Amino acid sequence: MKIAIIGSGGREHALVATISKSSTINEIFCIPGNAGTSKIATNVELDINEFDKVHNFINENYVDLVVVGPEQPLVNGIVDYLEKFNINVFGPNKIASQLEGSKIFTKKLCQEYNIPTANFGIFENRIDAKKFLENTKYPNVIKADNLAAGKGVYICNNEQESFKAVEEIFDGKFGEAKNVLIEEFLKGEEMSYFIISDGTTIKSFETAQDHKRVLEGDNGKNTGGMGAYSPSRLINDDLEDKILSKIIKPTLHGLANLGTEYKGFLYAGLMIVENEPYLIEYNVRMGDPECQTILPKLKTDLVEILEACCSKKLADVNIEWTNKKSLCVVLCSKGYPDTYQKNILINNLQNFILDENNFIFHAGTKKENDKIYATGGRVLNFISLSDNFLQARNEVHQCIKKLDWNGGFYRTDIGFKVID
Ligand code: AMP
Ligand code: GLY
Repeated sequence: MKIAIIGSGGREHALVATISKSSTINEIFCIPGNAGTSKIATNVELDINEFDKVHNFINENYVDLVVVGPEQPLVNGIVDYLEKFNINVFGPNKIASQLEGSKIFTKKLCQEYNIPTANFGIFENRIDAKKFLENTKYPNVIKADNLAAGKGVYICNNEQESFKAVEEIFDGKFGEAKNVLIEEFLKGEEMSYFIISDGTTIKSFETAQDHKRVLEGDNGKNTGGMGAYSPSRLINDDLEDKILSKIIKPTLHGLANLGTEYKGFLYAGLMIVENEPYLIEYNVRMGDPECQTILPKLKTDLVEILEACCSKKLADVNIEWTNKKSLCVVLCSKGYPDTYQKNILINNLQNFILDENNFIFHAGTKKENDKIYATGGRVLNFISLSDNFLQARNEVHQCIKKLDWNGGFYRTDIGFKVID
């Protein structure tokens, strides 16, 4: 069969690499892909937000299954668009994708179905928001309602900071803002919980913890993710039961009452407070770098799982995982998440020989004349599977040290909560 993966990051390289191991695959396309995907798939230079062009390509090349990696095309309705032409697409539709596209949609769902989440208020203008902020407890959390790629969330310690957040959001820093969301600050430890769903059956797709801050010790600015490890140290049977019964199932029930269903990966960003889960946010896709961290642990054929989701037969598939620990370190361009240089040559990446427990997934790279260049903020993901997290991290570090690229940096303390 022929399969097309939409996206160009580390998550998509991990998907392409895992899919390429399936015996049922004849050809893989990655739209648009990166230097890493070009080794195992045919990269297709198309704008993923131009659905008509994507459709033409899929149609002309007789693609059997499309897998959508990132949130933007999902929130914009790529699944609904392609399904109109009877194309098999793995990913949630436009209504279900509001779980990520609109924080207010999700908060209202939480309210209606008693899903545990931080207490919140929604404000349509600066005056009402500020009036509320004069009598509120600090710290609090102020969020833009838009898709803001991890930005657009302020943790405020006082009135001055929160007024500034409200001003910036309504000034349009994250796109046109009709509302702001003001939330109670939850104190606990974060965990990413994943499921895969065919619209009827759901199955767990593992857990992870990621490190979003740019500096050691989880300090500094927020990024797309500097590293992750799987499984989360917080998960246990009791907690998993609560996540499913108090959060995931009521959410899917809520979507059903809106006349829709959820097909795809669903990522619940949770705050765990004394073994109780609270929903911070939903993402309607795999996490990045959680996907790169989790997929190497998968023992079952991923294509079999994805096809089962598209034909509502997920109940028939047994998803198996290795018991090993997985740890991922993201190598970034110096300067990220602010400005950084682009088009910097990475010398020896093609000569890396990796054993079956070590993986390199590209993110912001491109290939030109057989040379690989760093083009993005997050450039490479190094992953290792091992019996313990310390050994996994040591192996990742040894691997990174072999790389001939001095334009990059990485956090050396990924996984410190499970190692130190
Ligand atoms: P979000 O984009 O909603 O996931 O928020 C980004 C990050 O802000 C989260 O990963 C948390 O670290 C933090 N955050 C968001 N909401 C809260 C909250 N209510 N309490 C504490 N931290 C939060
Ligand atoms: N790792 C965070 C995200 O994918 O949104």
